[in-house]
Amino acid sequence: MTQTPVDIDLKDKRLVICSNREPYKVTPADSGYEYEATVGGLVSALIPIMRATGGLWVSWAGGGDLDKSELPSTQSLPAEEPKFTQRRVFLSEEEVNNYYYGFANQALWPLCHYFLEHARFLQEHWDAYRNVNAKFARAILEEVNIDNDLLWLQDYHMALVAGMIKDENPDITTSIFWHIPFPHSDFFRFIPWRVEILEGLLGNDVIGFHLPQYCRNFGRAVNDILGYDWDRENLEIYVEDRVVKLLPRGIGVNFEYFNGIGSDEETIEQARRIKQDLNCNRLILGVDRLDYSKGIKQRLLALERFLEEYPDYKGEVSLLQIAVPSRTHVPEYQAMKEEIDYHVGRINGKFSSNGWIPIHYFYYGLPQEELIAYYRAADVALITPIRDGMNLVAKEFAAARADEDGALVLGEMAGAASEFPDLVAVNPFDLYSCARALRAALEMSDEQRYRTMNAMREQVQKKDLKWWIEENLHELREAEQVSVS
Ligand code: F6P
Repeated sequence: MTQTPVDIDLKDKRLVICSNREPYKVTPADSGYEYEATVGGLVSALIPIMRATGGLWVSWAGGGDLDKSELPSTQSLPAEEPKFTQRRVFLSEEEVNNYYYGFANQALWPLCHYFLEHARFLQEHWDAYRNVNAKFARAILEEVNIDNDLLWLQDYHMALVAGMIKDENPDITTSIFWHIPFPHSDFFRFIPWRVEILEGLLGNDVIGFHLPQYCRNFGRAVNDILGYDWDRENLEIYVEDRVVKLLPRGIGVNFEYFNGIGSDEETIEQARRIKQDLNCNRLILGVDRLDYSKGIKQRLLALERFLEEYPDYKGEVSLLQIAVPSRTHVPEYQAMKEEIDYHVGRINGKFSSNGWIPIHYFYYGLPQEELIAYYRAADVALITPIRDGMNLVAKEFAAARADEDGALVLGEMAGAASEFPDLVAVNPFDLYSCARALRAALEMSDEQRYRTMNAMREQVQKKDLKWWIEENLHELREAEQVSVS
């Protein structure tokens, strides 16, 4: 089953989005190709939108072993039931290494998540990033129809695209959503090419971030580094004769979809089998891309502390950590994996007994429907990133709990923490508080658990994916009308 489409009325307009990731991974098959929806927060959020609106999606033609030049540069997708068009941007291996693995994921990603120690600022990475952004800008300019299209760029891979587009055609209205945190100006200024990045982003008419804090950090950086005035209250930046609007709107999930699968009898039965197979009475669940920002190592140490502090839980509770392989060519990700492997082995060696093990560890991604069964099986979801723009797992977990049960222990550095004020969020480095929070979650009364879960579900349903899209597109249309009049 594919995700249920969201229902959005764009009136007479076509939506054009541009992201680094492509919507469907293509692999060769006996007769032609096979298409599989790409796993990832951004892509899973955007596929239902594009299916509903039938727009154009400009993206990298993707990785893998397939010779992508065999593929057409534009194609109607999904292959079995075409709804929208993909425009592929073909990149060489060297471009991918320097732009995606390089500048995007070894400069912008670590810096925006405050990991200066993992950041590398290499000229060849930056040159590739600029050239690849120029390729995306060119592809968009070739496809876009100014009178009919709404152009919505996605994420930190595309920082320069709007500036490049505006240089060629200043009348195009564009918006970008920055899916990761935007750091404080004192931190952002470590980037040697900070001026170009900020100028490029200011080519957009609207810049969306998950949180007001990220908007303020951006406004402050623009003011400190470029000297443009900005209005902290109204979140507007004044760039010569233009106004750039900053929009704080945290991304949501398709509540109906998760709730629907979560209440399915098959899912419930699958959830029962999961717990049985894992041989534990109470299940704690962690789900993340394997990324240093997700705090997986600290979480394992917190579990160790928990078992030391509350030994009665030995034999009773296990953590299942699902770590989805990610950016495996980047040395820091390889090192992180080794550390996690080490701690899983060490902690399991220390505590396992009589067929019970404290940590089950999957190093692979699961199809979304299967993941929902794990959400349903969990007594506690333990989500404790060191820094996370939003964290959709927390919202998916709540949406999937159609039984209104299950507790969430959330790290305070996740953007989602600011959306659940009733939840006591933990500091992922404070292992004692994490251990205490875990025990409190396991010992919560039924009444308190239902109340907390219900409050979360209400919030997730209210600010769902459809709300997020509508808010962003509404602002884009407003900006378009301003520039037309
Ligand atoms: O969280 C930021 C983000 O870029 C998401 O938007 C995306 O789904 C995820 O990271 C995965 O990243 P990548 O495309 O590098 O696998």
